[in-house]
Amino acid sequence: MTKIMLCGRGGSGKSTVTAMMARYLAGNGQNVLVMDADTSSRSLSDLVGLKRPKRSFADELGGPDALTRKLGAYLAPSASPESRRIHVDELPAACTSRRDCLALLEVGKAWPGGNEAGEILEELGRNVLSRLDDRNWWVLVDNEAGMDRYGTSHRATDAFLFVSDGTAGSLESAAFATRLFLEVEKPLLVLLNRVAPDENEEAERLARRLGVTIDAVLLPDDAVREASLEGRPVPLKGEAVAVIGRVLSRLESALNPTGRAQIRRRL
Ligand SMILES: Nc1ncnc2c1ncn2[C@@H]1O[C@H](COP(=O)(O)OP(=O)(O)O)[C@@H](O)[C@H]1O
Ligand SMILES: [Mg+2]
Repeated sequence: MTKIMLCGRGGSGKSTVTAMMARYLAGNGQNVLVMDADTSSRSLSDLVGLKRPKRSFADELGGPDALTRKLGAYLAPSASPESRRIHVDELPAACTSRRDCLALLEVGKAWPGGNEAGEILEELGRNVLSRLDDRNWWVLVDNEAGMDRYGTSHRATDAFLFVSDGTAGSLESAAFATRLFLEVEKPLLVLLNRVAPDENEEAERLARRLGVTIDAVLLPDDAVREASLEGRPVPLKGEAVAVIGRVLSRLESALNPTGRAQIRRRL
């Protein structure tokens, strides 16, 4: 199982890129579970092209009150690592949406008045992520932006994709993430998203100055923006197909430094 977490500031395009990666992998016959771990935005299932699950995993466990009470028990480390393992097929059907190779789990959305919601849901998401164990599945985690998450989530994740909109603030965050993941020895790639061709050079220069390597560039595409406004699946065509394919191949070879990239277009 290969677990990839998308990170970057809000609005940089994490959900869009997650959906593109999921569609690319599924289109090439790979099993992919999208983990919707963003506690505020509700549109990921539309972008991926799946129905929104009936409930979130947090609701499935009983909603805010029960979750707060039960969480201790659910999250308590169980005796054997074997019994902690979760297969994709064992995820509750009500909070998982599936079609062919594609699955989506909604972890939970923040509830009104629940100041502690973010922390609880984050803990729940991290717990599920670390227990998921299924050969031949990719997991793509679409997160909220927060830097604070990286610190502990890196243990449950194999590699990270930082999505940057090319602004100074976003590239500074990418520089921070680059240093952090170097320290914990987890691969991190940086994708520059939605930067117009005439602003590209400036963004690349700024990135170099900050010590950030840009691994891939996804250009702005009106069809992508319109699809998300209208709640349709994100289109994956033209140059974007090659860019997403390269990103996935590079992530894969970063994780298997000796092996050859295994994602191949189905002929
Ligand atoms: N390459 C792109 N071209 C055009 N619009 C994009 C592109 N990537 C993202 N967007 C738009 O930018 C907005 C924010 O993207 P989103 O994926 O929701 O960001 P995040 O999940 O990081 O908050 C959305 O309206 C989306 O349609
Ligand atoms: Mg998002």
